Amino acid sequence: MLRPRLGEEGSMASPAAGDQTEARLLLWSDRTESTLALGEWIGKEAVGGEVLALIGPLGAGKTRFVQGLAKGLEVAERYITSPTFILLQSYEGRLPLYHIDLYRIEKETEMEPLGLEEFLEGNGVTAVEWADKGLNTLPPARLTITFRYAGEEQRELHLRAAGAPYTEWLRKIRESGRWKILDEKN
Ligand SMILES: Nc1ncnc2c1ncn2[C@@H]1O[C@H](COP(=O)(O)OP(=O)(O)OP(=O)(O)O)[C@@H](O)[C@H]1O
Ligand SMILES: [Mg+2]
Repeated sequence: MLRPRLGEEGSMASPAAGDQTEARLLLWSDRTESTLALGEWIGKEAVGGEVLALIGPLGAGKTRFVQGLAKGLEVAERYITSPTFILLQSYEGRLPLYHIDLYRIEKETEMEPLGLEEFLEGNGVTAVEWADKGLNTLPPARLTITFRYAGEEQRELHLRAAGAPYTEWLRKIRESGRWKILDEKN
């Protein structure tokens, strides 16, 4: 059973309890490599325990992002796909990568047998595709990335950070100048 969590306003169960910082960044990805590079950058920054909630329609680029993330985490496997049938796939890297895909679940209660809390509270990096299907199960302190289709090769990536490590990432991403920024809010 998952531990009960309080709302976004003040969860004591959250790893970043007491830290309510938030930030938003809207990035432009003009090709697959740009999305891969963002994943890789985050993979390199990660120190363990991070949760990445990925939201967006089929073919939006969620798995591409995770492939970049795996590279940044020095995962040796080269063929990373959506773990559609088994829901969760873990990979060994500099830190463990837990890749979850909730596409096939219909009710959030179907996540319970996964024992997700064990992964979320561990020292790995958890990336969840179709995270909108399980938002109540995920910790409020997380980075949520919403992928919007904007053309064959173009995507808008809406990054929403809740909690210090993630707001810090957004600041660094902004300052890196590597991605075109469409909008931001601190
Ligand atoms: N800017 C871009 N960013 C990411 N992917 C892009 C971009 N432009 C084109 N693509 C292509 O779009 C496809 C995205 O596929 P991907 O498997 O990552 O989607 P997904 O969001 O995981 O979909 P699903 O919900 O089916 O798992 C890939 O073929 C990728 O090369
Ligand atoms: Mg996918």
